[in-house]
Amino acid sequence: MAEIFELFPTPVMRIPALLSAEAALALSERLSLAASVANQRSPQLSHTRILRPGEDTALDAVVGQIGPHLQAFGQLLFGESLRWLVKEMWVNVLQHGGSQSLHNHANCFASGVLYLSPCDASACTRFSRPLGGAEFVFRNTHASMETGPFNADKWNAPLPAPGDLILFPSYLLHEVPVNLGGERVTLAFNAIPDRLDAWGYGVGFEP
Ligand SMILES: [Fe+2]
Repeated sequence: MAEIFELFPTPVMRIPALLSAEAALALSERLSLAASVANQRSPQLSHTRILRPGEDTALDAVVGQIGPHLQAFGQLLFGESLRWLVKEMWVNVLQHGGSQSLHNHANCFASGVLYLSPCDASACTRFSRPLGGAEFVFRNTHASMETGPFNADKWNAPLPAPGDLILFPSYLLHEVPVNLGGERVTLAFNAIPDRLDAWGYGVGFEP
């Protein structure tokens, strides 16, 4: 019997119903009104300013609910129960026809998306394999090949319901394809551990 070892996988954690749908929709209604920062690439996408813990009681309660899951996710990433901190949050409001281009989040370690509104199937968060260097690229991609975990370029997160949370390593490239449905509201955030230690070579991170 042949065995296949899936080496060095990337964790993406989904927490269904972190918030009740009612609580998520209430946050969506209130916070989407504050999304006044235009996205540079998509006119149908806007954001709130960066929100920090301590600014909004309801958001602080949400951060409190995220905490144990973030802690568990961090343990998967670094093999130790570190002290994790949600550093900043922002709300994204994506209208019909808008999209979020491919990006990752610099200078942090874990990122998350809490879905506050319903999300059309066209606009599920989509993760991508690294794009690679500037060299020539060889691929075998055509209609009759079978896509699997060892050759897929992209992976769509499951269709979320309001209140669902997804956590992923901040280096992982992600995007939102063109939204063919109604308004899609999410709370995104970045988190850092207080300190990492590689055999005595420690680095600390400021909140
Ligand atoms: Fe992002």
